[in-house]
Amino acid sequence: MSNVVIAGMQWGDEGKGKIVDLICPAFDVVARFQGGHNAGHTVKFGDSHFALRLIPSGILHDGMRCVMGNGMVVAPQAFLDELAELKEAGVDPRGRLYISERATVLLPPHVHLDQAREAERGADAIGTTSRGIGPAYESKASRYGLRMVDLTAADLEERLAALLAVIRPQLVALGADVDHPDLDVAALAERCHAWAGDLKPFVADTGRLLAGWVRDGERVLFEGAQGALLDIDHGTFPFVTSSSSTVGGAAVGTGLPPTAIDGVIGILKAYTTRVGAGPFTSELLDETGKHLQRRGNELGTVTGRPRRCGWLDLVAGRYAARVNGLSALALTKMDVMDRLAEIQVCVGYRIAGEVRTDYPADRAALASAEPVYRSFPGWQQDTVGTLEFADLPPAARDYVAFIEEQMEAPVLFVSTGPKREETILRREHPGFELLTAGRL
Ligand code: IMP
Repeated sequence: MSNVVIAGMQWGDEGKGKIVDLICPAFDVVARFQGGHNAGHTVKFGDSHFALRLIPSGILHDGMRCVMGNGMVVAPQAFLDELAELKEAGVDPRGRLYISERATVLLPPHVHLDQAREAERGADAIGTTSRGIGPAYESKASRYGLRMVDLTAADLEERLAALLAVIRPQLVALGADVDHPDLDVAALAERCHAWAGDLKPFVADTGRLLAGWVRDGERVLFEGAQGALLDIDHGTFPFVTSSSSTVGGAAVGTGLPPTAIDGVIGILKAYTTRVGAGPFTSELLDETGKHLQRRGNELGTVTGRPRRCGWLDLVAGRYAARVNGLSALALTKMDVMDRLAEIQVCVGYRIAGEVRTDYPADRAALASAEPVYRSFPGWQQDTVGTLEFADLPPAARDYVAFIEEQMEAPVLFVSTGPKREETILRREHPGFELLTAGRL
């Protein structure tokens, strides 16, 4: 396996950042292919703690090349702020961080529109991250958006005027304040000129670079953001993000062909969380839900919002596995389950009196679905920092075996704590030696 995609199996926040950080020494390049600074990838090692939003998690490794692909929406100021944070922490991304010249520029007017729309939706809000992600992708699909390469275009002002001609009337209709420098062509153009200068060392034809590296036998790790159930096509529409967070997005969002991808590692949290609104069949609104929230420290990396918590949902999990075509799995936050006396896993949805095991597309059906659970005894033993699978309590090993059987993929990694080192690498699974060799 040379080129591997890391894909979230739930609604994001599965711990992808940690797994990318753990295995990326086996690769030459880490590439993000979708999303923007709505993502929050937390990486913890030693005493350091990073919350990356736009820049691939691989950047924390000396010399690792990182690509921000054409499928991303990049807010220049958010990028520059993150860059400054990295520099302050002694990480130097110069000469090894590349932004696609075809990536969409997420501009301040997109943020105004996202926020005004959410305010107008009131109780029906999607619960977006308020970062302007949806409107930025919309401006790409509607073809009035700007790409990185356009920041230096001679007709920049006209392009910005065209963008504002679409966005301003929408803001007016929503009753939002449009008397703001973010919505003024000249002021916006001035900021874009400054950004163009600051971003110049990073902007490149990343599709061409990646193709060359792959041709030379170098290995690419594709770092997905969000998760399968937030995917614009396959997720719980309309409570989704606006990009393709499943494996197909890795090709579209980098310019590498699908045939270049030869492995997919799904990241599955041992229970389920969701930030924002939308259906969540196995949600726990009781003490157990609060316990998972507290013990799992389930607060949004980007927004600080508490995450909704619930049992593992394998109706959703099997669906995510099907769409992504998994080679293997990483099971994260196993230790968060340590204290529970009983653990439930959702294996079916009861809808209109019938039990379904496929994931429904219909919003009303999903909203009415009642979980059908299979019960497992808890292990009620401390597993934090466990490094060998054999050292896990038998009940925990049974839980892993059930997940493998249902998801039809081997669990290669079991995460037993937030730190890079707190991970079980299962070398007994053949064919993944590259990923599980030694303490990476
Ligand atoms: P948007 O991506 O800001 O448009 O938000 C759309 C939905 O995706 C909301 O429910 C967000 O909470 C959710 N979302 C976006 N990014 C992430 C993420 O990185 N982790 C978890 N949820 C996310």
